[in-house]
Amino acid sequence: MKKVYIETMGCQMNKSDAERMYGMLEHLGYTQTSEPKEADMLIINTCSIRQLSEDKAYSAIGVWGKWKKSKPDLKIVFAGCVAQQKGQELFRRAPYVDLVLGTQRLYELPELVKRIEAGERVVSCEEKPFEESDIQINRVKSINAWVPIMEGCNNFCTYCIVPYTRGRERSRKPELIIEEIKKALDEGFKEITLLGQNVDSYGKDLEPHQNLSWLLRQVNELEGKFRIRFVTSYPTDITDELIDTVIELDKVCEYFHIPMQSGDDYVLKKMNRRYDYAEYKKICDHIRTRIPDVTITSDFIAGFPGETEEQFENTLKAMTELELDYSNTAAYSPREKTVAAKWVDLYIPEDVKTERLARLNEHNRKCCLASNKKYTGREMEVLIEKFEEDRNVITGRTRNNKIVHIPYDKDITGEFVDVKITNARTWYLNGELIK
Ligand code: SAH
Ligand code: SF4
Ligand code: F3S
Repeated sequence: MKKVYIETMGCQMNKSDAERMYGMLEHLGYTQTSEPKEADMLIINTCSIRQLSEDKAYSAIGVWGKWKKSKPDLKIVFAGCVAQQKGQELFRRAPYVDLVLGTQRLYELPELVKRIEAGERVVSCEEKPFEESDIQINRVKSINAWVPIMEGCNNFCTYCIVPYTRGRERSRKPELIIEEIKKALDEGFKEITLLGQNVDSYGKDLEPHQNLSWLLRQVNELEGKFRIRFVTSYPTDITDELIDTVIELDKVCEYFHIPMQSGDDYVLKKMNRRYDYAEYKKICDHIRTRIPDVTITSDFIAGFPGETEEQFENTLKAMTELELDYSNTAAYSPREKTVAAKWVDLYIPEDVKTERLARLNEHNRKCCLASNKKYTGREMEVLIEKFEEDRNVITGRTRNNKIVHIPYDKDITGEFVDVKITNARTWYLNGELIK
């Protein structure tokens, strides 16, 4: 049996692609290995969101290129978002690569593998709406199954590469999504996370039109006890119908990930985000009023081209004022082809970006602790995700996505338990089982 190793470097969508690649390769007789040195095929599944992620891909693959000298039959595949973006150019940079596989061509993998096994070198990344046929997925063993409901993005925020690496928005057919979820539930998954760059756009391109609320209702009707989540939401696309749906459906969890990017109106405009601070706040306040204990998380970028100190401080203010429960943070990284990357004169010096990012992170820590403290003394349902035998601790998540550590001496992964929260830390809660 041949062995394949996939190194995944990107977001959940990227991880989900890896599960699909493993699934397809299994049908061709490959088994999965966690040891790259033992593999007959090495796949690097890359991310292009920041320069650092792209650079990591090149250094990893350089090492593999050296291995190939003493193992000429080794096949090396360059996949993911950097592959989609760079295409043919990667052959010049890394001549030992056998296949460049763009994200748009994921489902051609079996056919392409046969060609490289026969000695060809192939680039496949032209943009093309893919047709999925059989769903072949080899999921990472866990409690949560990630299920993409759509691909791509039409928003073209001026800093972001995703519309170039993932193409235009395309919804997956509801029957394929439901079939995939049923399978995951049969395999024992207890949480389903619907995944997309912009889940609120789901179904606009389908015939007949559908929407996210409709899809959530279909999933909620499936039998068994499990949880449903969805990410990511574009602030102004969150409808009253969606909020009503989250309230109404028992399996859908009280959690929204709504990237804000900046708390400053001028910067938001320059980012081509279609809302200002007041609008974001209105949505946030509305969700919080209607859904008690809801968790709202966000993403922020520090040091966008031209961002002044005052504008940056508006982001810090926003984080506190909106009581955001957690935020992903990053320093701005110029991406080829994007609009903002051309504003070279306005670039913020590296040291200023680093300093702003550190302040953003410090603020985030304070917001997280404040958020977690709200739950001390409360009783909450926790879905257990892991057991640490050496410490006798089980860890899981509440419906609103808070991580809880609980002392316990048995592995009850996959069970729902009632827990009393005893105290709050920055990144997690401590609790004890209610007998
Ligand atoms: N679809 C989501 C975000 C996907 S990308 C949304 O609309 O918000 C994930 C995050 O990466 C973004 O929210 C943004 O905060 C960050 N990001 C994207 N491009 C970036 C860049 N050029 N530099 C720094 N961070 C970036
Ligand atoms: Fe990127 Fe903006 Fe699309 Fe999110 S909405 S993926 S940030 S272009
Ligand atoms: Fe994801 Fe990175 Fe691509 S964030 S969509 S893997 S550029």
